Amino acid sequence: MDLPQFLAELESLTAEAHAAFQAAADTAALEAARIEFLGAAKGRLKNAQKGLGAVAKDDKPAAGKRFNDVKTEIEGAFAAAQERVSSVGAAKREGPRFDPTLPGERLRLGRLHPITQTIEELKDIMGRLGFTPADGPEIEDEYHNFEALNIPAEHPARDPLDNFYLSVADGQSPVPGKSSSAPGQKPALTSRPLLLRSQTSTVQIRVMEKTQPPVRIISLGRVYRPDEADATHYPIFHQMEGLLIDRQVTMADLKSVLRMFATSYLGEDVHVRFRPSFFPFTEPSVEADMHWHDRWIEFGGAGMVDPNVLKAVGYDPEVYSGFAFGLGIERLCMRRHGITDIREFYRNDVRFLEQF
Ligand code: DAH
Repeated sequence: MDLPQFLAELESLTAEAHAAFQAAADTAALEAARIEFLGAAKGRLKNAQKGLGAVAKDDKPAAGKRFNDVKTEIEGAFAAAQERVSSVGAAKREGPRFDPTLPGERLRLGRLHPITQTIEELKDIMGRLGFTPADGPEIEDEYHNFEALNIPAEHPARDPLDNFYLSVADGQSPVPGKSSSAPGQKPALTSRPLLLRSQTSTVQIRVMEKTQPPVRIISLGRVYRPDEADATHYPIFHQMEGLLIDRQVTMADLKSVLRMFATSYLGEDVHVRFRPSFFPFTEPSVEADMHWHDRWIEFGGAGMVDPNVLKAVGYDPEVYSGFAFGLGIERLCMRRHGITDIREFYRNDVRFLEQF
């Protein structure tokens, strides 16, 4: 046998051994392939080794080296196949293996309540118009909820049946953690009734008490009225109050701000119209409507801040003027999303909430 023939035989033996080991699906098949190629007595590698004797003497070193390489390679291929076959068996015994290529499990993330989302968006829009958010307490006194807003004691808006007055036991504060009077002192609260604020206009007063003009704020928050719940009423709802005080402010400024606001929120050019109205804290007072989708929609009250209100907080009405407005947040959100029942906001039904 000459060298090229011997080497060619080794080559095809190697290829066949690789193929046989790879094809073996289980330990029994692999053992059969092992005996065929690596068997000690009649294996094909053993057989090839015999051919080595027939190679010419000068070619022997090269033939022998190649034979050893092939032997190592075939043994390596067998070892790899053995590992593969046994790991398949192991996997079957252990059950499914971790598969890093599978898509992960979706996290069920919560989301913000539609009213909260609306509040954030309104703050954003008004922020671009230069209005800074301000907050006030939800438990108010009559001075900030009524008197400073030019709402006199005999005004029907102060009727106990139309407000959530808080009954306060002597010496106790309705605000947790706050004692209303020093020990041994007469409680002052009994002479100063408290209530859940019925409007966010209270924040106008609280801001003006603390700041000097110019003022340009909005206040968004909860208000409370003992209304029977129906599709358009709920005893808790939200308002956005706006207040701008400066020199030479006019109703044209008010209308522009409301129009820009409505246009930003509803996403198209919205017309705003004023209808004469009355609020004790504005003069003149208007109901503001906006024209959207071929309809006029009421969106809240507004007007020029009454000089009495400016005087109550120590502003000079001869120098300063301003406008204020108060809009229902639920109503805005309902219009924009086509929601027809305000109670949906408070039912906490995820099928409703997850649509926003
Ligand atoms: N506070 C009024 C309400 O709850 C709404 C309102 C009207 C607010 C006119 C204003 C305003 O600031 O100027 O019905």
